[in-house]
Amino acid sequence: MSKRTICLILAVALLLTLGLSVASAAPLSQGEAYTIVLGDWLSKLAEKYLGNPGAWPAIMAATNTKHIEDPTFARIENADQIWPGQKVWVPTKEEAEDFLAIYEPGKDELLFGKRAKGQLVIGSWWTSGGEAAGLAGMFDIYASKNPEVEIVNATVAGGAGSVFKGVLKTRLIGGDPPDTFQLHAGLEVEGYSPETYLAPLDDLYAEEGLEAVFPPDLLTLLKYKDHYWGVPVNIHRSNVLWYNKKIFADNGLTPPTTFDEFFAVCEALKAKGITPHIMGSSGAWQVGHLFESVLLGTLGADGYRDLWTGATPWTDPGVAQALENFKRMVDYANSDHPALSWDGAAAYIIEGKGAMYIMGDWANGEFTKYEFTDYGWTPPPGTKGVFMALSDSFSLPKEAPNPENARNWLKVCGSKEGQEAFNPKKGSICARTDCDPALFNEYLKSALADWAVDTIVPSVQHGAAAYDKWVADYQDALTLFMATWDVAAFQTTLQQACVDYGICH
Ligand code: GAL
Repeated sequence: MSKRTICLILAVALLLTLGLSVASAAPLSQGEAYTIVLGDWLSKLAEKYLGNPGAWPAIMAATNTKHIEDPTFARIENADQIWPGQKVWVPTKEEAEDFLAIYEPGKDELLFGKRAKGQLVIGSWWTSGGEAAGLAGMFDIYASKNPEVEIVNATVAGGAGSVFKGVLKTRLIGGDPPDTFQLHAGLEVEGYSPETYLAPLDDLYAEEGLEAVFPPDLLTLLKYKDHYWGVPVNIHRSNVLWYNKKIFADNGLTPPTTFDEFFAVCEALKAKGITPHIMGSSGAWQVGHLFESVLLGTLGADGYRDLWTGATPWTDPGVAQALENFKRMVDYANSDHPALSWDGAAAYIIEGKGAMYIMGDWANGEFTKYEFTDYGWTPPPGTKGVFMALSDSFSLPKEAPNPENARNWLKVCGSKEGQEAFNPKKGSICARTDCDPALFNEYLKSALADWAVDTIVPSVQHGAAAYDKWVADYQDALTLFMATWDVAAFQTTLQQACVDYGICH
């Protein structure tokens, strides 16, 4: 090949890379995806495809709009900063003209693909497999009813809202709340100063007829200072002991129902080198979660419930016994529990790394998500016939930037359609009483049956039984207990907290 030919080829290649975008192109009959090459800028593309370099904002806005649905398209923050490899969307000439007719430099939000009806910013801590799947089920329904609204999934990871709640409080106080956020039914709401920061939802309850579709006990739990502050999406059960069926079958064991049986199973498995009891304690809440079931199993339904009303003192010998039971259970747990999140611990059951795990039925959502079916369930020791309940709801901050969008979200949360899409994936039963049971798996069918006949007690760890401050004290005292094993110190601290919060006298 002569030198001249090589130069010619190189020149053509360079032109193809740098120059083609300058040449004009046939107008597009429909929009087109285009991948940026070296030397492109939006005005060049606008000139080439739209015949007008000044039409670049139309390409920017169209690309950003595409990005909302399909993140393989670029999000262009600044028209001067695009780079090779980015995928953009070139609209048709007519679309560009329509856009330019409404666009003026002051209306920058149009450049960012904002939908006609703006955003819906939803705050929650649902980031695990089952949690995210359930949430996505409700998003789909919302999106189909509100296509002009962009859903922003503003999650903060950390089970039970352990990180989220603090972040949310700061945002509420700073006047920068999301449009709606996850809130447990019960006394947890007090921690958000609802009269200052939240909008009461009584009118929405009336409009949607919600009082007729939720059980009366749940309605009582949801009312605080005579108002509803959240719309519930589910009922979760806190006291469930999950077990790996294969391990139990291989070792000829039956699921324990009492503490003695629990420890006997633990001994048998330990002797075979199998971890009997799976725990995660990377968050203090996980320990609080386990201990509420131990308190319930040791004190019984009335004794446990009365701890939060002051009728059972924390100095009761039953509490000391519960602490002893708890300590023994920790002795049989995986040694890496301080590093494990709740879903990490659930994965140990899935992988057969241990036999039993006491966790709320969001673990069922996790098993469903990962298509694990070889699990069994039973109430933790001593809790048969008692359902420790909690409920997730969504609220409306007074300063929600898009209150109309939020109210429409709350309507989906309260609806049969929304709850049926959400709960089978989330591992919870509906808060409504009219969901179709056929949609639920075997575990959830059993939870539905138990919910109908069991004694119901409120979970403390998940916001139902006590003020947030008291829950924080409870968690702190347990963390300290796991370091010192000082039974009396734990009891005194909790009794003092009960007095401090005006419950015990
Ligand atoms: C609970 C919440 C559940 C579940 C769990 C773990 O507090 O009510 O929906 O998500 O935390 O994150």
